[in-house]
Amino acid sequence: MNRRNWLKNSAALTVGATALPTLLQKAYADPAARQELYMDLSHEFRAAMLADAMPPAAVKARLSANENPWGLSVKTKEAVNNSLTEANRYAGRASMDLYKVISEKDGIPMPQNPSGGGGWGGPSKSYIKLGCGSTELLNASLMHFGSKGTIMVGDPCYISGNDEKFPMDKVKLTPDYQYDLDAMAKKVDPAKHSLVYICNPNNPTGNLLPADKLRKFIDEVSPKVPVLVDEAYIDYANDPKTDCMVDKVKEGKNVIVLRTMSKLYAFAGMRLGYAIGKPELLQDISKYTMNGFGVSLPTLMAAQAAFADTENSKMVLAKTTESRKYTADFLKKAGYKVIPSYANFMLFPVNMKGTELTGKLMQEGVMVRNWFFDGQHWCRVSIGTMDEMKAFTDAFTKVVS
Ligand SMILES: Cc1ncc(COP(=O)(O)O)c(C=O)c1O
Repeated sequence: MNRRNWLKNSAALTVGATALPTLLQKAYADPAARQELYMDLSHEFRAAMLADAMPPAAVKARLSANENPWGLSVKTKEAVNNSLTEANRYAGRASMDLYKVISEKDGIPMPQNPSGGGGWGGPSKSYIKLGCGSTELLNASLMHFGSKGTIMVGDPCYISGNDEKFPMDKVKLTPDYQYDLDAMAKKVDPAKHSLVYICNPNNPTGNLLPADKLRKFIDEVSPKVPVLVDEAYIDYANDPKTDCMVDKVKEGKNVIVLRTMSKLYAFAGMRLGYAIGKPELLQDISKYTMNGFGVSLPTLMAAQAAFADTENSKMVLAKTTESRKYTADFLKKAGYKVIPSYANFMLFPVNMKGTELTGKLMQEGVMVRNWFFDGQHWCRVSIGTMDEMKAFTDAFTKVVS
C-alpha cells in the first residue's frame, strides 16, 4: 500500500496515533513528501497539524482552516496574562461573568445556574451552554440527535461529510448553491428526522440565506423537528443582528443557535463556542458535553475582553473585507465564478483535480482546501492578510498557467 492509501485507510491521522509524528517529521524535511501528504489531509485540523510540522518559512499563506490571521487583540492578550494569577482555581466566577456578557449581548435570559442545578450535568434551565469550541456542542448535538433519528443537512455543508458516523439525509443545494429550504421543508418528516442542521453562512460555499426566508423555514419546520443553526461565520455577514436567529429561541421555538469565537475573535486555539437554545434542547445535548467545565479560566477571561474590544473586531472585519474583495476581483478577472461570500473564505470551481491544485499550491507554500461536489472540483480559500492573499494569487497564477 502506498503512503497515500495507507493514510486514507488507517486511523493514523487521529491525534495521538504513533505513526503520525514520523510522517510529519518527514514532511518537515522533504517538500515532496509534504505535497503528497497534504493531498490527503483534506480536513482543516489535519491540515493545521501539517502546517505546524512544517518549517515556518515554508508556509507563506495558511488559508485552509478559516482562521483569523490577525490574532488575539492586545487587550485580549492582556486579559490572558492577567488571568494566569487566578488560573490555579476552578473557573466559577469567570464562567458566570461570561454567561452574563453573552446574555446581555444576545438579549437572552441569564441562566439560573449554568452548570446545572444538581452539580455538573444536572438539570438546568439555561438558554446558554459554553463549549470547548463550538465543536464540542456540535458533536454533542450530532450524538444526541443522531441516536434518535436522521439528521437533515444541506449537501455540501460543514457536517455533510460525517454521514458514515451519523445517519444523514443530504439535500442538494439549489443551482446557485444555496440551501434548498423549500425542498427541505417539504421533505422533513418527524417520524424519520430528529434534527435539521443549517449552516449560515454555509461552509464551504460562504453564502448567506435571506433572513426572512430562514425565519419562515424555522417557523414551519421547528414545530415538527428541531432546527440547529450553525452561525460560526455570522459575524462576517453585513448585518449580523438581522441575520442571526436568536430571536427564534426567544420566541420559544425548537431551535439551537451555535456560535464560535474561533473566527472573528481569533480563538481557534483558545477554544470557545456557545449554544443558545431552548433549555430543554440544551439539556438534551448537555449529557454529551462537559457543561462548560472544559473551558479554561484564561479562555473565559479572554473572551470577555475580546467581546468588549469592539475596535479590534471592526479592524478585523475591515481587513477581511479588503482581502476578500482583492481575492474575488483577482479570481473574477481570471474568469472564475466565485460564489458570493459572506464569510472569511470563498469557494470557486477549478479546472483541475482539487487534490492536484492543493498539492501544487502547497509546493508554493500556500495552503488551501479542495472540495468535490456537483460533478465539479472546487477550491476553498480562507481570507488572510493582504500579504497572504498576494502569495495565494501569485502561486495560483503560477500553478494554473
Ligand atoms: C461551520 C462551522 N461550525 C463549527 C466549526 C467549529 O469551530 P470551533 O470548534 O473552532 O468553534 C467550524 C470550524 O471551522 C465551522 O466552519
